[in-house]
Amino acid sequence: MINYEGFEPGFYENRAAIYSKLRDDEPVSFDEERGTFTLSRYEDVAAALSDWETYSCVGPWTNANSQLGALDPPEHTALLGKAKEALSDERMLSMEDDLRADARAVLEVLVAQGECELIVDYIFHCVGRLEGRLFGLTDDQVSECFECVDILGHAPEQAPAVQERLAAVFLPIMAARKQSPGDDLISALVTEGSDGSEALSDPLIFGFLNTLNAPLGGLAPAGVANSVALIGAHPDQQADLAANPSLIPQAYEEVLRLDGPVFAPVQIRVLTRDVTLHGVTMPAGGLVHLLFGAANRDERAIENPEQFDVHRAPFQQLSFGHGIHECLGRLLARLIARVLLEELLAAAPEYSVTEAGPPFEAAAIRNEWLKVSFA
Ligand code: HEM
Repeated sequence: MINYEGFEPGFYENRAAIYSKLRDDEPVSFDEERGTFTLSRYEDVAAALSDWETYSCVGPWTNANSQLGALDPPEHTALLGKAKEALSDERMLSMEDDLRADARAVLEVLVAQGECELIVDYIFHCVGRLEGRLFGLTDDQVSECFECVDILGHAPEQAPAVQERLAAVFLPIMAARKQSPGDDLISALVTEGSDGSEALSDPLIFGFLNTLNAPLGGLAPAGVANSVALIGAHPDQQADLAANPSLIPQAYEEVLRLDGPVFAPVQIRVLTRDVTLHGVTMPAGGLVHLLFGAANRDERAIENPEQFDVHRAPFQQLSFGHGIHECLGRLLARLIARVLLEELLAAAPEYSVTEAGPPFEAAAIRNEWLKVSFA
């Protein structure tokens, strides 16, 4: 049912039962065909994420140009320093005002129309404009970058062609910014660090831009789409949020807990030593999948886990990961969701989802489309 390549058909509708069976009956599940293990209980997944020395990110996929997710310290620490500088809190927070202005402007038109397809017309539109400002890209370049993410989600075998298309966008821009840097993120990456450290190599910068474009064109919009769908399915809580927007950040955490979008169904690690858990010994060198979605719904860690409750006491959901690889874009993802939900609930407090497309499950889980009525 669950493998590293993608979700099996029917997974989305049946995920609560699949997760629950795994946690109860096979907390260390072994896939004989692939020879991989899967952990699904909250305590086990959180412990693995915290222990990079045992659960390593370095595997056959790691090479000289690897990104953060395929590295352990000290290489991870060195690249993380550069990445954090480019994705500084200051740069991320400076995105808020323009994002809000875009959201307001587009909602004015959409609400006057009475209905719309919200994922493309609102969410992608606003997140695309944000990526344009963050990277210093034109609208056409952003469309090309987002289309590449969409193709990868629907047809991963097209990855080589997609890489060429992304290179055709990013490489000339990187060269131009070296000559004449601006205050955008690409300029920050191609120039030397504020501490005088050398700029990263071109392949590393290109890889990093892909690592940022993928969640901006996939996970972040999916997180907002899942929020609109889940909140819309609970009219009482929707009314609470519209009346009290300060609850929106905790509502987003609750959406991520129950329906956090993911690219791969699982995060993967390589064991550096034998580990015995729940009576099963996983050998050194073994591949272990960490199933965030199942961990977030573990009744051993949280009460009434299947219930959507925006008033829940704070709970450390694992959809952004945890430990040294915790999502570097989480501040931005939370900002995007907060602003887009605040503006939607202000402009249309009683919006309703009239039609939800089938699950787009190959990559960032969400519905393919959401038709929303503002009447
Ligand atoms: C709702 C939206 C998002 C979700 C659910 C998400 C989820 C995750 C997860 C689970 C990891 C850790 C993977 C692991 O431990 O193996 C991760 C890492 C990362 N994310 Fe996100 N992400 C989101 C949005 C973003 C955004 C918007 C950006 C940047 C613009 C971003 C950039 C990164 C980077 C650079 C890493 C690598 C960190 C490292 O390995 O040290 N993410 N993300």
